[in-house]
Formats: sequence, C-alpha cells, structure tokens
Amino acid sequence: MRIRVIAQSPEDFNAWLRRQQQPASPPSAVQAMKGAGLFMEKNCVNCHSINGLVTRGHVAPDLTHVASRETLAAGTLPNTPANLSRWLKNPQAVKKGVNMPRLGLSDEQIKYLAAYLEGLK
Ligand code: HEC
Repeated sequence: MRIRVIAQSPEDFNAWLRRQQQPASPPSAVQAMKGAGLFMEKNCVNCHSINGLVTRGHVAPDLTHVASRETLAAGTLPNTPANLSRWLKNPQAVKKGVNMPRLGLSDEQIKYLAAYLEGLK
C-alpha cells in the first residue's frame, strides 16, 4: 500500500475538511443523472456510500468527493476519466485481488457512471 503525505497549513487543511464534509452536489446533466440511477441499480450502493445520494455501503471507499482525489484505488492509478472507465470496466485487471468485482457493465453504462462520478468534486 502506498501512502502519500500532503503537508498543509491548518487553515488549508480545515478548508479541505469542510469541503469533504459537504454532501455531493446532485447531478444536473442527463448522462450524470443516468449514472446516479445506475449507481443505485448496479450494486454499487452495497459497498460504497455517496453522502447526499445513499449511505448504505461501508465496506469500500466513500465516493462523495471521488473526483477531487488525485488517484484511484489507493494510489494505483492517476484519477483521469480514462482510468476511471478502465476501473469500472474491470477492476480486477487493474488491481489483482481487489475486493471490487467486475460488474459486467456495458460501455454505455460506464459512460454514464463516469459522467456522474467525475462530477463529485
Ligand atoms: C463488493 C463491493 C463493491 C461493489 C459492489 C462495488 N465496489 Fe467499487 N470498490 C470496492 C472496493 C473494495 C474498492 C477499493 C479498491 C482499492 O482501493 O483497492 C472500490 C473502489 C472503487 C472506486 C475507486 C475509489 C477510490 O477512492 O479510489 C470507484 C470509483 C468505484 N469503486 C466505483 C464503483 C461503482 C461505480 C460500482 C458499481 C457499478 C462499484 N464500485 C461497485 C468495492 C466495491
């Protein structure tokens, strides 16, 4: 496991903390709305939470502000749209043995989910 330390002033840290404690903004674009619907339908909610949408899953990272992170999967990948789609298509191919299953999503479903998740700053 990689650990990255970011040193900040107390003011900057507290500002970051306040932003992280805010609920996710609701999606406004059509593709992102479809992505939020898929997030509910495709079992994501059993493992992940998004404050402001659903907070049922607690065994995987909270995704409320996933788009504000620099990396995905604990430092495995830079957090870019292409890598997010790659992750959603087959997490096992990116990080062998990870506890996120391959969910059999179509390319269109991945596009909508990515549109939603990329808006969660
Ligand atoms: C069975 C539990 C499970 C399900 C279902 C699941 N995930 Fe995950 N997911 C995980 C775990 C565990 C990780 C953490 C992987 C790591 O960092 O090693 C993860 C990581 C992620 C990440 C990267 C988060 C980060 O902070 O790096 C995203 C994005 C993600 N999942 C989206 C989804 C979406 C979208 C769905 C539904 C289509 C979904 N997951 C379904 C368990 C799950």
